[in-house]
Amino acid sequence: MKVAGRETRAVWWTADGIRFIDQRALPQRFEIGVARSVEDVARAIEAMAVRGAPLIGVLAGYGLALAAARGEPLEPAYQRLAHTRPTAINLWSGLDAVRAAAPDSAAMLRAARGFDAAEAAAAEAIGTHGLSLFHHGTRVLTHCNAGWLAVQDWGTALAPVYKAARAGLEPFVYVSETRPRLQGSRLTTWELAQEGVAHALIADNAAAHFIQRGEVDLVLTGADRIAANADVANKVGTYMRALAAREHGVAFYVAAPLTTIDRGAPSGEHIPIEQRAPAEVLNVEGADDSGTLARVRVAPEGTTALNPAFDVTPHRLITGIVTEVGIIPATREGIEEAFRRRAQRHG
Ligand code: MRU
Repeated sequence: MKVAGRETRAVWWTADGIRFIDQRALPQRFEIGVARSVEDVARAIEAMAVRGAPLIGVLAGYGLALAAARGEPLEPAYQRLAHTRPTAINLWSGLDAVRAAAPDSAAMLRAARGFDAAEAAAAEAIGTHGLSLFHHGTRVLTHCNAGWLAVQDWGTALAPVYKAARAGLEPFVYVSETRPRLQGSRLTTWELAQEGVAHALIADNAAAHFIQRGEVDLVLTGADRIAANADVANKVGTYMRALAAREHGVAFYVAAPLTTIDRGAPSGEHIPIEQRAPAEVLNVEGADDSGTLARVRVAPEGTTALNPAFDVTPHRLITGIVTEVGIIPATREGIEEAFRRRAQRHG
């Protein structure tokens, strides 16, 4: 996607290391980070300089290829990267796609690039299939950031929005701020502004209010892991939006590539939920007018805080899942149908 008119990706391989947009500095600063070791890559994922399920998988794949290029033992590198964040299954999709090409480092880099390109192509296909959910002026409510910053290109939940905008359908997006890391207010608004898509930022707690008032036509979110029965783990706060959507008869769709589906997890309760540092809840991070990042405490010293990063939306609340092989029902059969379609396409 374009930033200031220039084609930009969120992660890219160079001879001098893996470069990435440091998403912690956005929207105030457009900073490029570089990872020159497996440890650098792991820390970029843990600190959420690079985040979003598909992009975590892409970067982890490049991280394993980097280990091979540096002649380092692969298993410790794999284990270090695999123990960064526990919920997004894409992490292992990327690692396993690259490990399958081991031990030849050139072949592993080709596999990392191939995985990267396949995720970007899947995102565009999600956009194309998701376009059928839009009419002129569709009002979408989204949560977190599931745009190109989280994938490499197009995004997942935002991909149909970009396709609708480019088709002249003038979509409008309600962007949830997404405490505590503010992916909505910092990243989704920034992306939509780059693309000139009309949007408004709302407090997280206002989502059900706009759904109740009939001002939302469609709720569309991403996913970090989809179980075999189509229960979906995504950014914490997704479940309550699904409940509000069901209560008021508003369609609730999840957009995700097949690399986000974990057929090894029978249902949502088998998905590990990342617990992040209490400090993320006890403080608010932002930047002052000079762009300097600042942290403001929002609770008394000694306050206990709990910080689950994701929650699980049961499949019964999901209208459908937008994948690169089409929109499928949120059922075990729908999931199996999606993998059949992919197998048929890949022969
Ligand atoms: O903690 P994050 O920012 O990595 O969480 C990201 C999300 O929950 C996204 O909705 C999901 O990864 C899909 S990104 C296309």
